[in-house]
Amino acid sequence: MTTLASPPRLIGSDVEVPCVDGVDRRYVNLDYAASTPVLAAVWEAVEAFVPWYSSVHRGTGAKSRISTEAYEQARTTIANFVGARTGTTVIVRNTTEAINVLAHALPPCTRVLSTPAEHHANMLPWRRHDLRVLPLPTSQDHLLATTLKALQERRTDILAVTGASNVTGEVWPLQELATLAHQHGAQLFVDAAQLAPHRAIDMDALGIDHLALSGHKLYAPFGAGALVSRSPLTGDPLIKGGGAVKLVTDDDVIWADGPERFEAGSPNVIGAVALAAACEALDMEQAEARELALAARLHAGLEAIDGITTYQMWPTHHDRVGVATFNLAGYDHHVLAQRLSDEFAIGVRHGCFCAHPLLTHLLGVSDAEARRLYAELQAGRDPELPGAVRASLGIGTTAQEVDTLLASLMALQTR
Ligand SMILES: Cc1ncc(COP(=O)(O)O)c(C=O)c1O
Repeated sequence: MTTLASPPRLIGSDVEVPCVDGVDRRYVNLDYAASTPVLAAVWEAVEAFVPWYSSVHRGTGAKSRISTEAYEQARTTIANFVGARTGTTVIVRNTTEAINVLAHALPPCTRVLSTPAEHHANMLPWRRHDLRVLPLPTSQDHLLATTLKALQERRTDILAVTGASNVTGEVWPLQELATLAHQHGAQLFVDAAQLAPHRAIDMDALGIDHLALSGHKLYAPFGAGALVSRSPLTGDPLIKGGGAVKLVTDDDVIWADGPERFEAGSPNVIGAVALAAACEALDMEQAEARELALAARLHAGLEAIDGITTYQMWPTHHDRVGVATFNLAGYDHHVLAQRLSDEFAIGVRHGCFCAHPLLTHLLGVSDAEARRLYAELQAGRDPELPGAVRASLGIGTTAQEVDTLLASLMALQTR
């Protein structure tokens, strides 16, 4: 039997928090999909860099030169991490900003094809274009068939999909989607916010043209994310200002050619250094191997508890990252999440996970109920929205932590 090396050290993994019974318990972090803790290697890289911190692209002093080199090196390291050997890497705040930057750079009325299963970050920015949304995919085959049909029916410029669902954890068939897109003259954009922290990605091999990720979901929460494109990026920058130009006249501007075009304002060099350090420290093959067993334990354990309903788009699809969304009979989602925290020191997320169309479908919210909620919100009231609880795993998760969640749910279920 092969044994896996221990996972890299995370800051704060031994912290205890007080529970309602007055006992301090070790915090059980099952909320990696929202934001991850800091890798010790990232913290060390930031500490080592801080004495050298200075402006980027704006000074001739030694520290400015060192900071600029570190920032430019970070682009290369991030691009290598996702297997983009050529192209442009724009350093942004997070996945949301990356997608907005790309959507803004594309010409007006770009023909975009996407799905209702996306996070709002991969949905709302595309609405400024000529967006067509596929039916909710009921299986991987259904996704591929409806995508093919849509590509045949209408010329498409960009197919924009998630790499892994932030609600159900299902991993999307990216290589097949890239092939379909390319055969029909379209490019593939992948929202990798939830894929990059769980799987090795090779953009060149998979045929992904553009990809977005967040440092705070990759063990480097210092305010940087990235938009990686395998081709030069041109077009209108979302954020306009200093650093993004070659020349400004009284009434005109010549934008820079490289990634700086999309990075107006002083760059976040510490965020970039941190994200690059995470990309260097993470061994994604090992992370995946470790997580597969834990995810299987979590999914099987949840199915075995009476009263638990789990949610999946593609019930027979087994390629999932360590994300599970569920409800427990007799508990509102927010009450369940609160009690897991108060009584068992377990951190999970609850709500709609910024994926309202998908959640509405998975929870079976009727049209009448959806209309009622819409009307209440339009009227300025604050109705209780339906939702669920999400447990998500990462490189620091242990089997014992998964078992603590399962045992806690069983304890709550019997009360
Ligand atoms: C699939 C997916 N896409 C995009 C985002 C947005 O990421 P960020 O908040 O880092 O911009 C998230 C965040 O949870 C996500 O899960």
